Amino acid sequence: MTEPQSRSQKIWRHIALGDVGSTNDYLRECAEQGDSGNLWVTAERQLKGRGRRGRTWVSERGNLYASVLLINPADIKALSVVPLLSALALYDALLKSGVPKGDLEIKWPNDLLFKGQKLAGILLENQNINGKMALIIGMGVNLSEAPDNTPYPAASLWAAGHKLQPLDVFSELNRAFDHWFTLWGGGQNAKALVDAWCERAKGIGEPIQVNLSDRSINGIFVDIDATGQLLLQLPDNRTISIPTGDVFFPSDQ
Ligand code: BTN
Repeated sequence: MTEPQSRSQKIWRHIALGDVGSTNDYLRECAEQGDSGNLWVTAERQLKGRGRRGRTWVSERGNLYASVLLINPADIKALSVVPLLSALALYDALLKSGVPKGDLEIKWPNDLLFKGQKLAGILLENQNINGKMALIIGMGVNLSEAPDNTPYPAASLWAAGHKLQPLDVFSELNRAFDHWFTLWGGGQNAKALVDAWCERAKGIGEPIQVNLSDRSINGIFVDIDATGQLLLQLPDNRTISIPTGDVFFPSDQ
């Protein structure tokens, strides 16, 4: 299916850094100093890269580390699909950069898999700063380096012969993000995003395990709902919605 076209009127600024603690933290400081948003920052290396659930994101040179700052992008309720929007942008950017479609999938909610292994992760953080909502979306892509001993096995593109450069992938990411952000329309068009996300997702209709902060649940990954929550059918046939968690597939064991 082809997605509707979007016409953007946004100007996205970009700051390219060498070493930084974390691109997300850099943008939080920009917001604290009154930045108006629609600002990207990339770094060659992060000294304190952060992942979801307080994990460290190993951030050596050669990979892409990019974050974008949005100020008051939408009503708080509309933000629940922004993780899906971000994953769509990253997926499309990698495709445009030459990664074969058959090798790429999204793992709920917003990990990118390459041949079933984790290629990229996204960390969303939002905070009220000076009375405004600052939403920071940070993305890390394993281009030349993949870390060892991660909760989910990791892949790099260079190891598979795709010698992509961080700023080239970033150019595509900037374009793809603008497309999906404009199409989303501050929440007007969430359904188009949910549908597009489902077309690119791994494991819908299949058995999965979801690790929550305090337990694991097994069931069938039925669908996602209009807010991006995962719908899991339990062995007793009840379907529950899950707002956050780490998904594993039977092939991961
Ligand atoms: C995950 O745990 O899967 C999310 C990883 C997010 C890493 C990116 S790299 C750019 C940005 N800055 C950070 O410190 N983290 C995010």
